[in-house]
Amino acid sequence: MEEISDKECRGGGRLKDEQNDELNKLIEIAGERLAFSGRTIVLTGAGVSKESGIPTFRDTDGIWQKYKPEELATREAFMANPTRVWKWYRDRALSVREKKPNPAHYALVELEALLPHFLLITQNIDNLHRRAGSKEIVELHGNIERFKCFEHSHPYELSSWGDEPPICHCGSLIRPDVVWFGEPLPQAELECAFAETEKCEVFLSIGTSAVVKPAGLLPYIAKRYSAFLIEINIEESEITEITDIFLRGKAAELLPKVVELSLIHI
Ligand code: APR
Repeated sequence: MEEISDKECRGGGRLKDEQNDELNKLIEIAGERLAFSGRTIVLTGAGVSKESGIPTFRDTDGIWQKYKPEELATREAFMANPTRVWKWYRDRALSVREKKPNPAHYALVELEALLPHFLLITQNIDNLHRRAGSKEIVELHGNIERFKCFEHSHPYELSSWGDEPPICHCGSLIRPDVVWFGEPLPQAELECAFAETEKCEVFLSIGTSAVVKPAGLLPYIAKRYSAFLIEINIEESEITEITDIFLRGKAAELLPKVVELSLIHI
């Protein structure tokens, strides 16, 4: 077995300790900022659900590494092959139902209860924030547990997932109530997200690459309106360079620590 020199080990160990000290200091500052924030916005992406066993989209093991969005997540794809799109969402929905919210989801529920003005804006359609107990949620990209008809967006209560999309009373096919590529985001949700972001004091971005707009614009808007910008991500994203604090790590590990340190001040 190769011996690691004492110097390497000591050097490596010291560097690791220094990195941990730095991270813990940043977590402390983030916790304090959140504790004293009069208006707080949280933006989540797929990374917040990673520890629940749900793949992200653009990581090396992400959904778009396996599937082509243009074949499964567009109106054209649904018109070309409604059964294939319906089955793909059915498989995702049934898989997500077996997953559970993770400590990051529950930490956000705690934060919502702690802070005076708190709004969770999510890009995720997995329904895990609601299942964890979050109440003040804006779902920018819809929810895989909600359904509407393709032609007129009539809401539809699905009793169980079959092999084929059901038919609406108006004769149109039923589809998941999620935002497909090329579709506009729900107007009310979008307006609310932008308006609240302009007013927030602290903006916390968690587990998003921020490459998809308009959701990915929100951190920039927060910054423009002088919010304190915190990011939790396992790696740098498009917005890391404009953040005030970047906490590198898993949301399920770091977010509970941030909330715990928030509690000290409240
Ligand atoms: N903790 C924190 N962040 C993580 C973790 C984790 N455990 N695992 C991955 N991440 C980060 C990745 O580093 C990446 O920055 O989560 C981000 C996931 O990025 P994407 O896969 O692009 O997901 P997201 O940002 O949510 O995508 C936005 O794109 O395809 C559309 O509609 C889809 O809502 C989605 C939108």
